[in-house]
Amino acid sequence: MAKTKISLKLLKNKAQKEMLQAKDLKDLDIVFKKYLGDEGEVTLVLRSLKKLPKTKKAKIGKEANELKNFLKIKFAEAAAALKEKAQKEAELKEWFDITVPGEKVAFGHLHPLTLVQRKCEEIFQFMGFSIIEGPEMEEEWYNFDALNIPKNHPARDLWDTFYLKNGLLLRTHTSPVQIRYMEKNQPPLRIIAPGRVFRHEATDSSHEVNFYQVEGLMIGRDISVANFKAIIQEFFRRFFSKDVEIRLRPSYFPFVEPGFEIDIKWGDQWMEIMGAGMVHPNVLKNAGLNPSDWQGFAFGMGLDRLAMIKYKVDDVRLFYSGDLRFLNQF
Ligand code: DAH
Repeated sequence: MAKTKISLKLLKNKAQKEMLQAKDLKDLDIVFKKYLGDEGEVTLVLRSLKKLPKTKKAKIGKEANELKNFLKIKFAEAAAALKEKAQKEAELKEWFDITVPGEKVAFGHLHPLTLVQRKCEEIFQFMGFSIIEGPEMEEEWYNFDALNIPKNHPARDLWDTFYLKNGLLLRTHTSPVQIRYMEKNQPPLRIIAPGRVFRHEATDSSHEVNFYQVEGLMIGRDISVANFKAIIQEFFRRFFSKDVEIRLRPSYFPFVEPGFEIDIKWGDQWMEIMGAGMVHPNVLKNAGLNPSDWQGFAFGMGLDRLAMIKYKVDDVRLFYSGDLRFLNQF
């Protein structure tokens, strides 16, 4: 018995010493198996108990079991310590050299059409206009009828329209936003409505199936063409950062009377840049306003056209090409 007692104590010391020497979890596992594995030294002591006489069996069995439990706890502690050590070492390895030059992050930037739209918004906001949005998928009523373009009226041919299966259409211009806004808001009012429009047209260097417009609307008791001219002149002056000569040419749009086209002088050429006019009484009526109380002007200009002039781009399709060689120039 004395001998077993000594050997249990010996086992305990040996096992503890070897545990402390383990450099990593693999080492520790070997030590664990050596003492507590199937053929481990402590396991063997426990297994040999049945050969002992009863009195010894109880006493040694108790001590051997205590040793087993004790070692298990110690192994778990040692494993935890080793894990922590490994983690700390890994963290240290992540140390990096702060003197190495950083990698350049590639920044994106705004699309030229977005830049132009924002510039327009900024200028008109400065002049007291609110920025209003309308849906791209529109009802026939707002896109045509309410704008004084009845069914079967030849003027509908001016806009080649994408009709949708759900009974709606893709708006062919931003003018429907005029009606939507006047329905809900009482004059006096000043708004612009920038946005995307769609035309079922063959594409070429100056035509796309979708493009951007900015609609303008100003309604009051006595808003006149003179007000329009002053505002639009100021807009161009700010947009191109210089005085620009403009002219009004009589033209026809069903939703205005009189209607005109505005040209700007660019170099020695006149360039057509927008449609405009005094809002037609029928349009005011359709939006729920009394034409004998209210009057004003409306205009619609192509953002793409503005961007082409500002940035000297000769093909509108480039804006929609997604070609980085083009886009990176802005
Ligand atoms: N909606 C017209 C178009 O897309 C442009 C236009 C012309 C808008 C005259 C207006 C306007 O508000 O008064 O061709």
